[in-house]
Amino acid sequence: MRESDVKQHLGLLAWYAAMGVDEAIGEVPIDRFAEPTTPAPPANSEAKPKAQAQATPQTQATPKTPPKAERKATAPLSTTAPEPKLDEITTLAELAEAAAAFDGCPLKRTAKSTCFARGSTEAKVMLIGEAPGRDEDLQGKPFVGRAGKLLDKMLSAIDLDETSVYITNTIYWRPPGNRTPTTQEIASCAPFLTRQIELLNPEVLVLLGGAAAKSMLETTEGIMRLRGKWKPYRSKDRDIPALATLHPAYLLRSPEAKRYAWRDLLMLKERLSAPQES
Ligand code: URA
Repeated sequence: MRESDVKQHLGLLAWYAAMGVDEAIGEVPIDRFAEPTTPAPPANSEAKPKAQAQATPQTQATPKTPPKAERKATAPLSTTAPEPKLDEITTLAELAEAAAAFDGCPLKRTAKSTCFARGSTEAKVMLIGEAPGRDEDLQGKPFVGRAGKLLDKMLSAIDLDETSVYITNTIYWRPPGNRTPTTQEIASCAPFLTRQIELLNPEVLVLLGGAAAKSMLETTEGIMRLRGKWKPYRSKDRDIPALATLHPAYLLRSPEAKRYAWRDLLMLKERLSAPQES
């Protein structure tokens, strides 16, 4: 390959990286520079009779049918798929299956897996984050990467763990390059999250970060104003107390803010140990 071609390809890769592309979508690489297996048609091939031109075999570089992974990335998502009747779903396991089969969130096109939840389906505490990241997408579970490890440590500091909490996100599919999900993307998953909350029926909700707090509390206020206060979240016929706090990924970038998160954790602990109102 010529030096100028190499430079051009490196430039393209750098541009992809700057746009947030950090992995190949296809499972099988496609060599777009491969030599065709049949000789290229002669320069005057336009003069060929139509039937003969159509009979020219497809080359390896331009397969008739794109590989499965490529089809997945380009095929339009069905917009006519019937909405699942979420009210008729009575268990979180069934809801997880319905979410995995749901084609109404465009992020599903580029994600590897559906990250529905992790933790106990008997939990009193439900945590809602923003969106799965790379590790979550690879493992198919929310909060299993660096932010998840910090979250587990924060929970353990107030004697909580996967057996006593249930963790999910406002959306179930990783946005490309970990960008913030759009309001439309959050809205497309919202009916599932609403039903998820109804089925778990937790005592309290913990909203991790601004995106989750704003969408769940239907406000445009910033996380620094929202955090550290119990606010009602309306679920069917009852209000569930919801506490917004700082996102663990933010705490990794700004460790000096951990003191606020600690105060919020203590508020959560206090609430959980207070005698229940009847
Ligand atoms: N950040 C989130 O908001 N959710 C995850 O699952 C992981 C990182």
